[in-house]
Order: sequence, then structure tokens, then C-alpha cells
Amino acid sequence: MLLKRALAVVTGGSSGIGFATAERFVSEGARVVISGRNADKLAQAAKKLGENAWAVVADAASPKDMQRLYESAVGHFQCDVNVVVANAGISRQTPVRETSWEQFSDVLNVNVGAVYATVRASLPFLARPASIILVASLAANQGTKHFSAYCASKAAVVSLAKSFAAEFVEHDIRVNSISPGVADTPIFDTLGISNAQLLQWSNVIPMKRPARPDEIAAAILFLASDASRYMTGADLAVDGGMSGISPF
Ligand SMILES: NC(=O)c1ccc[n+]([C@@H]2O[C@H](COP(=O)([O-])OP(=O)(O)OC[C@H]3O[C@@H](n4cnc5c(N)ncnc54)[C@H](OP(=O)(O)O)[C@@H]3O)[C@@H](O)[C@H]2O)c1
Repeated sequence: MLLKRALAVVTGGSSGIGFATAERFVSEGARVVISGRNADKLAQAAKKLGENAWAVVADAASPKDMQRLYESAVGHFQCDVNVVVANAGISRQTPVRETSWEQFSDVLNVNVGAVYATVRASLPFLARPASIILVASLAANQGTKHFSAYCASKAAVVSLAKSFAAEFVEHDIRVNSISPGVADTPIFDTLGISNAQLLQWSNVIPMKRPARPDEIAAAILFLASDASRYMTGADLAVDGGMSGISPF
């Protein structure tokens, strides 16, 4: 489904959805470059992925790091980049009265700034055609108590995908976003949300369970591949029915 030997860059590829995506790409015969800030976590992930993976420690919110990431990717595999998955992201509880400007800015800087930096830096290194996938969230369209920064950041990601798509369509570069609902990944550890709480949330998911990371990866693979060649500027909901089905 994915171009054999395609080169894909996945930011935040050391964990959760990013790692599952890298794993799936490798199993389809692609070469993958993963990035993240924690060197040990990244090295372990790269080891699991095998010889068709290359890891670069890089902060996705740093334009300099992103430039270095693509230089390293192209230098290592000696080819242009076919697929970019701007996946790196964080989630924080930010109750309005208790959240500092720095805490708010941090969420926006990683979830929006990093996506912008990831895409902008990729442009000189892209093959044609190329596919860019931005990882947004169901939260883009749903106000959530104590998550205003996260929700706003993901709404911005959906919007960025549409404007990038408009700007790059004449250059044979497609850009789409994907909006997972609840996926069972380590992101909830950082929020202090337990597995038991996650399972409790399942009651409001029409499919009655969170997604497995590989189920989100399968949809990212679709957007990365030629199977979605007539899609650009779209947002793909992969949420067990949460956005489309009324709870009543
Ligand atoms: N899990 C869900 O329910 C869900 C739902 C909707 C959307 N999403 C979105 O899916 C994406 C992946 O989330 P996940 O659930 O897979 O989370 P995760 O398991 O916590 O993985 C996040 C990844 O991003 C990396 N990362 C974070 N900040 C970074 C930065 N500044 N620069 C580079 N890498 C960075 C992390 O590595 P380091 O910490 O080492 O940098 C890690 O590899 C996020 O954008 C998230 O908002 C998740």
C-alpha cells in the first residue's frame, strides 16, 4: 500500500501512535526516521524497529532541530522524503484560573509550533508526490473542561492542514489531518489518568473501548499511501464513532 522503500519521517516516533505508525510503515517495506527528545526512549524504539529505522534526537518545536532532522534523514538513507507525519504532541490539564501564561504557551508551542516547524523544514527535502499527515484530535471540535489549551491547539492543527494543502496542492504535496478520539497510549500517564479511568471513559465511546495505537497507525498509513491520492485538506476521524454518533 505504501510506496516500497518510501522514506517517512515520524516526529514523536518513540511512543504511542508515532511508534505504532513507524512500526506499520516498516512492516510495509518503508524506511522510517523517528524523532523525539528523550534519547534513551528513542534508541530503544529504533532498536525495536530494526535496520530500516533511523533515530534523531530532536525537539519538534525547534526549527534548528527540524532542519537537522531532515538533513540527517536524507543523508542516512540517500533519498528524498516521501511522507511526513507531524505527530509529536503533549497534553496538559490547563484549568483557566490556575494556568500560567508559560503553561498555556508550552502546549501551543509544542502542538502547533512544532507542527509548523516540522512541515516548514521538510519542504526542501520532499520527493514528489509527497504526503504530509498532521495528527490532530477529536478535541479540535469539542470543548473540554480543563483542556482549553489542548483543544485550541488541535483546532489549529486541523486548520493548518487545510491551509498547507491549499498552498502545496500545485506542488504535488498532499496534506491531511487525522483526528483520533481516545487511544490507549502513554500520553495519559503524563496527565495522571489511570487505565481504570480510561476504561471508564469507554462508556461514552460508541465502540465502548479506546483505540489501539495500531488502529490509528492504519489510518495514517492510508493517508500516507497512494490509496488516498485524491484526498487533500481533509480531516479523518478515527474515534470509534465519537464525533459522528449522538450519545442519545
Ligand atoms: N492518545 C490519544 O488518545 C490521542 C488522541 C488524540 C490525539 N492524540 C495525539 O496523538 C499524538 C501522539 O500522542 P500519543 O498518544 O501517541 O502520545 P505519547 O505516547 O505520549 O507520545 C508522544 C510522542 O511525542 C514525543 N514528543 C513530545 N513532545 C515533543 C517535542 N517537543 N519534540 C519531539 N517529540 C516530542 C514524545 O517523545 P519525547 O517525550 O521523548 O519527546 C513521544 O514520542 C499527539 O499529537 C496527541 O496529541 C492522541
